Amino acid sequence: MPTADEAGRPISPAHQPARLNALEAAVRSRTDLRPDLGIVLGSGLGGLADDLEEPVAMPFAELPGWPVATAPGHAGRLLLGRLAGVPVALLQGRLHVYEGNDPGLVVQPVLLFRRVGARAVVLTNAAGGVNPDYRPGTLMLIADHLNLTGRTPLLGRNADAIGARFQDLVDAWSPRLRAQLRAAAEAEGVVLEEGVYAGLLGPQYETPAEIRMLRTFGADAVGMSTVLECIAARWAGLDVCGVSLITNAGAGYTGQPLTHEEVLAAAAEAGPRLTRVIRRFVAEFAANPAG
Ligand code: HPA
Repeated sequence: MPTADEAGRPISPAHQPARLNALEAAVRSRTDLRPDLGIVLGSGLGGLADDLEEPVAMPFAELPGWPVATAPGHAGRLLLGRLAGVPVALLQGRLHVYEGNDPGLVVQPVLLFRRVGARAVVLTNAAGGVNPDYRPGTLMLIADHLNLTGRTPLLGRNADAIGARFQDLVDAWSPRLRAQLRAAAEAEGVVLEEGVYAGLLGPQYETPAEIRMLRTFGADAVGMSTVLECIAARWAGLDVCGVSLITNAGAGYTGQPLTHEEVLAAAAEAGPRLTRVIRRFVAEFAANPAG
């Protein structure tokens, strides 16, 4: 298990193939399952892991080069199993840059999804509402993002075997998968808004002035994850979709301070609704092999 300093050591794209070889071998020593889909579970959304059939769970400590996840509400496990009968990989407890992890490490889970067979990834997160209409408990389909972290997982020498040097991000959030998520939500009777997710470094929450700035930038939600994972997933050829669970009004809207406890409580309350949508989406995904 790397120390905090090792977790922060720069990992360029060119380093990823060798690291993925070791990670793939660690997974294959435990299971032959080839997931169709990878799913990243955000803060408080780990409940989907309880639905996994015949799960094989690998704590991060068993995965070469991965640190123990430290964010409260994040368990720190990779799971392979079946959801609604469909082979999937779940990341329960993602890695964040604000924990001191290099962007190249933060995106290894999605690159590993690809390595072990996934064609698509679902990214979920807890987020603050920048759109004043998005109350706590709102589910927002991610239509596009603003990467305001100032970081990228693609810095340094490229690995052409994984993806191109200059990655296109038009339609990075797959219109086809978004339509499938909308259909799944409708079938479950769950309201799904749609908007732009702004990814910041954190770990401090925003100032009210920053929330106003994000609104003029076109953001609907703000969080501290997801955007680097999307970039790396597109680079590696995965189709990407995702949903933000709005856990709180953006800083300054209510006059009250923001707390991590309120974020976790709102995620726990609305999490089961999102879980239903994702279960339905996964079942339909398998029924649609072209996707
Ligand atoms: N800001 C940033 N990240 C978040 C928030 C927020 O208001 N809520 C949950 N994650």
